[in-house]
Amino acid sequence: MTAPWKLLAEDLQAARDRDPAARSRFEIVLGYPGLHALWSHRLTHAMWQWAPLKLAARVLSQITRSLTGVEIHPGAVLGRRLFIDHGMGVVIGETAVVGDDVTLFHGVTLGGRSMTHGKRHPTIGNGVVIGAGAKVLGPIWVGDHAQIGANAVVVKDVPSHAVAVGVPAQIKGRPTSAPIVEHCEDPAIFI
Ligand SMILES: CC(C)(COP(=O)(O)OP(=O)(O)OC[C@H]1O[C@@H](n2cnc3c(N)ncnc32)[C@H](O)[C@@H]1OP(=O)(O)O)[C@@H](O)C(=O)NCCC(=O)NCCS
Repeated sequence: MTAPWKLLAEDLQAARDRDPAARSRFEIVLGYPGLHALWSHRLTHAMWQWAPLKLAARVLSQITRSLTGVEIHPGAVLGRRLFIDHGMGVVIGETAVVGDDVTLFHGVTLGGRSMTHGKRHPTIGNGVVIGAGAKVLGPIWVGDHAQIGANAVVVKDVPSHAVAVGVPAQIKGRPTSAPIVEHCEDPAIFI
């Protein structure tokens, strides 16, 4: 198991690396609600594993939501170095799974399409970027390093390294040589 202090340092570094507006770790600790929501989720997710604490976990996640504008269900499984930029309006559902090094902008929903129980939220691969206001709905899969355009509504699987835009989202491109992470080298394009 990774030491909590190491996870914390990684989270701060992820924010520094992916937000050109971030000037210091101290500023990030104080002023990044996405990070506060992530840290709260680490606690609520641990509580969620023990039945008597499930209610308390839900209550804490709702308190976090009212403080940060980010709602993450305690049952959601989040990878390392998740960066939620701006935060406000992000919703991550109970059965969502998010890989490592994912970036979400404000207004992103990882939501369900039906009221049935069981897996009903998306699985997001490593290194995925999901633009502001995008909705990714249903038990679909978004492949590693895919990019979802701002305000897209994604209801079908997205292949790795693909760019999906529009409503409903269509695949616009799938770079074969250069990995998307290189393509995104200058995070200023997302400001
Ligand atoms: C989807 C995205 C990652 C694509 O970036 P890219 O790889 O540089 O691709 P391009 O800009 O060359 O666009 C490729 C095509 O998709 C279209 N497109 C790009 N973003 C789109 C969007 N959000 N909605 C609809 N179409 C979009 C472009 O017009 C272009 O269409 P064309 O091939 O018909 O000309 C980017 O446009 C995006 O939406 N990023 C999210 C940014 C964000 O949320 N910022 C918030 C900052 S606060």
